[in-house]
Amino acid sequence: MKVAGTVKEVREQVKEWRKEGLSVGLVPTMGYLHEGHKSLIDRAVKENDRVVVSVFVNPTQFGPNEDFESYPRDMEKDSALCEAAGAALVFHPEPDEMYVDGYSTFVDMNTLTGGLCGKTRPIHFRGVCTVVSKLFNIVTPDRAYFGQKDAQQLAVIKHMVTDLNFGIEIVGCPIIREQDGLAKSSRNTYLNADERAAATVLNKALTEGKKQIEAGEKDAEKVKKTITGIIESEPLAKIDYVEIVDWKTLEPVESTGGAILCAVAVYIGKTRLIDNFIIEK
Ligand code: PAJ
Repeated sequence: MKVAGTVKEVREQVKEWRKEGLSVGLVPTMGYLHEGHKSLIDRAVKENDRVVVSVFVNPTQFGPNEDFESYPRDMEKDSALCEAAGAALVFHPEPDEMYVDGYSTFVDMNTLTGGLCGKTRPIHFRGVCTVVSKLFNIVTPDRAYFGQKDAQQLAVIKHMVTDLNFGIEIVGCPIIREQDGLAKSSRNTYLNADERAAATVLNKALTEGKKQIEAGEKDAEKVKKTITGIIESEPLAKIDYVEIVDWKTLEPVESTGGAILCAVAVYIGKTRLIDNFIIEK
């Protein structure tokens, strides 16, 4: 497995592979890799001849008071995980390789990005769309892999690929969880022991909400109330949002009858965690 720090190295490698007629999969990440990321790499390795994993903590998707500086980083461990999973290339650029002096072009989206995480993180998806577009242009993969853990991000990227004619297949992958149900996340490392125990409330609440829908409850407000009540019973938890939205438009729904995304963002202490379930129809 190779580790490349420059765009040029990646382009040269991909050119070689293309000459041999090989297919290429891309797994974009911000590193500090865990089983959730590994599930994406595993799937990509199964479906492509060569897999590129990008490891880049993207400054443009963090707000001024967010955790860009403190975001956990461990390149040695990440490289080992990628190699063991069968990746052929890790792209690990420095910020000034991705955003050269005078950088001024951004990819923005007028729909899908205003609600849910976009409300508290107004510049987040502009940063995500920009960096993912750049990665798509650098790697030119056949397929790219994204987790349902970040459901809004998955919807945004799918929409962007259609709007901008990227011609890349976007593959959505299920949420990987700890044994107690907490969705795996690089940010879980911020939690102390009490917070880690409290963090299970996200999945507990969502599981109850899902059960209620499966038992026939159609009123989205009632389901949101159930979820909100369970999260509020945890003293260390503070709700950012509990939403039930249409899984296509990401607009709030009154009825849970169609294809829906039920998503929550909750502060556990100072750490903001997200989780969700999707009911496809
Ligand atoms: P990051 O948070 O590192 O996540 C990289 C990918 O791993 C995302 O597609 C995310 O949804 C997926 N992922 C994370 N935790 C997961 C879990 N528990 N189960 C399944 N998939 C999981 O998302 C980003 O980075 C960035 O925004 C990025 C797309 C790389 C752009 O900078």
